[in-house]
Amino acid sequence: MTVLVVTGTSTGVGKTIATAAIAARAIAKGQSVVVIKPAQTGVLPGEVGDIDDVARLVAGVRTIELIRYPEPLAPDTAARRSGMRLLSLDEVVSVARECVEDLVIVEGAGGVLVRIGEFTLLDVARELGAPIVVVAASGLGTLNHSELTVRAIEAAGVEVKGLIIGSWPTEPDLAERCNLEDLPRVTGARIIGSIPAGAGQLSGIEFTNRAAEWVDPE
Ligand SMILES: Nc1ncnc2c1ncn2[C@@H]1O[C@H](COP(=O)(O)OP(=O)(O)OP(=O)(O)O)[C@@H](O)[C@H]1O
Ligand SMILES: [Mg+2]
Repeated sequence: MTVLVVTGTSTGVGKTIATAAIAARAIAKGQSVVVIKPAQTGVLPGEVGDIDDVARLVAGVRTIELIRYPEPLAPDTAARRSGMRLLSLDEVVSVARECVEDLVIVEGAGGVLVRIGEFTLLDVARELGAPIVVVAASGLGTLNHSELTVRAIEAAGVEVKGLIIGSWPTEPDLAERCNLEDLPRVTGARIIGSIPAGAGQLSGIEFTNRAAEWVDPE
């Protein structure tokens, strides 16, 4: 079993879409895949969360969400305000360890230092001995956010697997074109994928057929 942990330079950068693309590629290669979203915020019971997006885009993936909080906040803040319980690190780690799939992908919430409970995704990755994939925005500002994220991961003694551009526009501007060269230079991490803008709106079949062209975590 291989475990990959997916974080982003912030919320809304495309972690879920990148997670779906990695899952789709692995499934197309014949692997079994489970995607775990430890804590989902900002959705009510019955509404669409990140794992539902993954399941819609990727046929054959198994998905697990451990807890969801209604308010669109960091999980620990949302937990305290709702009076619901906090997740524990042990719970997340044991659920991941119990998975029988070839590939286990854990999607964090927001950026890497966001408290999922009284722990962060760095603790999850360290406990599981898993590398972290950093999903980054394409445009101005991403050099700083990406370097900060990579440095925080490495300072925690966790391996950075690489960067994935969460949404690459059809007509990249000057900053975006320069960032393709500068991101690996300033972070020391490889770009292992780039998801075209609009990919999230594709049908599951189209998404899965094309995902292998977008990411290469190996
Ligand atoms: N490549 C893409 N194509 C189309 N839509 C995208 C793409 N990447 C991201 N989006 C859209 O941008 C929004 C944010 O993306 P996403 O939900 O994947 O972010 P996230 O990093 O997973 O955020 P969260 O911290 O909430 O988990 C979503 O509405 C998603 O559909
Ligand atoms: Mg997400």
